[in-house]
Amino acid sequence: MSADLNKYEREIELFREQIPLLKRNVQGTRLVYLDNAATTPKPRSVIQAIEEFYEKYGANVKRGSHTLSVESTDLFEKVRDQVCHWIHAEKREEIIFTRGTTEAINGVAQSLSKNLLKEGDEILISEMEHHANIVSWQLHTSSRGVKIKAFPINEKGELRLDLLESLITSKTKLIAVTHVSNVLGTINPIKQITEIAHRHGILVLVDGAQAVGHLSVDVQDLDCDFYVFSGHKMFGPTGIGVLYGKYKELDRITPWLGGGEMIERVTLEKSTYQKLPSRLEAGTPPISAVFGLAAAIDFLETSNREICEHLEKSLLNYATQNLTDIPGLTIYGNSSKKISLLSFSLKEVHPHDLSTFFDQMGIAIRAGNHCAQPLMKILKVPATSRISLAFYNTKDEIDLAVKAIHRAIKILRR
Ligand code: ALA
Repeated sequence: MSADLNKYEREIELFREQIPLLKRNVQGTRLVYLDNAATTPKPRSVIQAIEEFYEKYGANVKRGSHTLSVESTDLFEKVRDQVCHWIHAEKREEIIFTRGTTEAINGVAQSLSKNLLKEGDEILISEMEHHANIVSWQLHTSSRGVKIKAFPINEKGELRLDLLESLITSKTKLIAVTHVSNVLGTINPIKQITEIAHRHGILVLVDGAQAVGHLSVDVQDLDCDFYVFSGHKMFGPTGIGVLYGKYKELDRITPWLGGGEMIERVTLEKSTYQKLPSRLEAGTPPISAVFGLAAAIDFLETSNREICEHLEKSLLNYATQNLTDIPGLTIYGNSSKKISLLSFSLKEVHPHDLSTFFDQMGIAIRAGNHCAQPLMKILKVPATSRISLAFYNTKDEIDLAVKAIHRAIKILRR
């Protein structure tokens, strides 16, 4: 496996050359960025696309007839086509720009709680959800008397799919599940879940935040009703996300935000709304971030996906092998289907101390509950340390992280 990483050294170098942040020094040494699950660093092309919007276009979209506005709108709408094509949606109107995954889930939760859910209904989530896919449902549906149930995981950190049918009742209206766990790295069997759900007439929303930077996503093949993700975890800017929904599902959703350009007619008494997608995009959208998102998709599309996926597998295997050998280190999430992410705990060393120790060596990792407190409870830990890798990371960076853990054991262990 490490031989594979050597074999693709030139490709990795070319990826790295495109990402200015990787040239930064932190604590007097070259940055080692192993926190890609929190957010990915941005390629120069993404930063330039944002700049280009302000330098060349700069106008608001969908509301002006002057040249700059028409040009901005054309380019903005082309990104919708690009996203549609990229995730294999059927129609461009199925792509709604949001501020991120969290806003998209909250929007759907708010609308469904008005239109679909009634007292006694049930929503099924999983034990490995991010708070965004737990709290949004609690916030918007608890006052309607909707019950939230969670389906469990096994000791490898995989969903207990065998239990799914037994958890479904005639009251189950929706399954909201993550495509990839931000703590365990597990890639969930979404296609099988949608197949079971649809047999029972249940809608499926998929949180794709951790998937889009690593996997090719085909929403038609997954057959999910909603798929949500953020630009910043796939080399794009912060402040931009996407809500995909099957046309018939989005079309019956009540807008969760009211404002400019989502309306057809407004009187002081009532309003009627535009058709999709504008109906669900109230106010001025994050236009420059949409331009950046387009450049991020270009970056991912031109970075040979086969090599990237291969590299990430090799990085994961290499890191897993090296971490497994460390006495007192426990890895959480051992599915054979997982992305390049490793959560672990180290006996007698607090994750936050470890992360601070890493920082002193210029290595960025994340420590904490990763916005997944219910999962921490199940894993019986208050927090974990997490190394999250992307295809531009190197074998040397993993070696440095392993060295840092060994040093931390000597210095921090009580
Ligand atoms: N959800 C992001 C993470 O897992 C922020 O780090």
